[in-house]
Amino acid sequence: AFLGDELLTQETRDLISSLPKEKGWLGSEMYQFQGYWHTQALLQGLLTCQKRFEAKDSDIILVTSPKSGTTWLKALVFSLVNRHKFPVPSSGNHPLLFTNPHLLLPFLEGVYYKTPEFDFTGLPIPRLMNTHIAHRSLPESVKSSSCKIVYCCRNPKDMFVSFWHFGKTLAREETTDAEFPIEKAVEAFCKGKSMSGPLWDHILEYWYASREDPNKVFFVTYEELKKQPGVVLGRIAEFLGCGFTDEEIVQGKVEEIVNLCSFESLSNLEVNRQGKLPNGTESKAFFRKGETGGWRDTLSESLAAEIDRTIEEKFHGSGLKF
Ligand code: A3P
Repeated sequence: AFLGDELLTQETRDLISSLPKEKGWLGSEMYQFQGYWHTQALLQGLLTCQKRFEAKDSDIILVTSPKSGTTWLKALVFSLVNRHKFPVPSSGNHPLLFTNPHLLLPFLEGVYYKTPEFDFTGLPIPRLMNTHIAHRSLPESVKSSSCKIVYCCRNPKDMFVSFWHFGKTLAREETTDAEFPIEKAVEAFCKGKSMSGPLWDHILEYWYASREDPNKVFFVTYEELKKQPGVVLGRIAEFLGCGFTDEEIVQGKVEEIVNLCSFESLSNLEVNRQGKLPNGTESKAFFRKGETGGWRDTLSESLAAEIDRTIEEKFHGSGLKF
């Protein structure tokens, strides 16, 4: 499993014994809490986060569903916000050149699972963090403060396929997971039973939140980022109150960040080819193809149609299309 269950508290065990349960794709069971499916470890992290996390007005929280562009968004926003501290291109000492993007900013529920007492007040300001927590389950202070949320989602078929391969990579030693057939995974996905799923609820909650308060939630898709990374990065910068100056634009600062954070650039760095995260996951598991429409390699026509039907139905009337 991605995060083991050795740190589960009795309180979590008591709670999950009363929750709906499903076989997950990543080795551990999933439990439904506040309408969303979580592994035990991340559920415990979420509960601690809800109890302990105090947002500051200057915070920046990156939100994604798993496999929707988390790694990329972390790299981009880290480089953007820290561009004066760590200029790009650098004299070869930019933190991204030596650090997997996941280690540059904390994953809230992961950190709270491993270190419930973790002191987030020590992070440099603006504090940058990421999470998969659904809008309705965010800690109260995130909603009541003026902190900013950047939400990124992805074409559901590509996201599913990315997750499918990620799961298989992680499941290497856990043959039972490797045996979880794709047809069953698609069926579960279309019932909303995927990590942080139902995916459509996750996306729609942030979509409506961004329409209601565009100064609070910036909503973007992986596909938009792929198509016009510089334009989107410029918009994120404006949204975060650190827009590029005319001089920076002329100097090509936007493209420099985009290039540093591109799939080609990051996936070819030694640290991401050979390195491991502290939980043992290989860095390269986060860099597979980095394409849009790559689902065609993995999904049969009928499985793709099954996902399409579900997604069309769930997004109907929302104004969102993938
Ligand atoms: P694929 O499996 O389709 O290749 P997450 O970061 O949310 O875990 O998502 C992982 C997906 O994002 C993977 O998709 C991965 O290849 C892709 N990805 C990682 N870094 C990227 C980057 N810098 N640019 C574009 N895509 C990237």
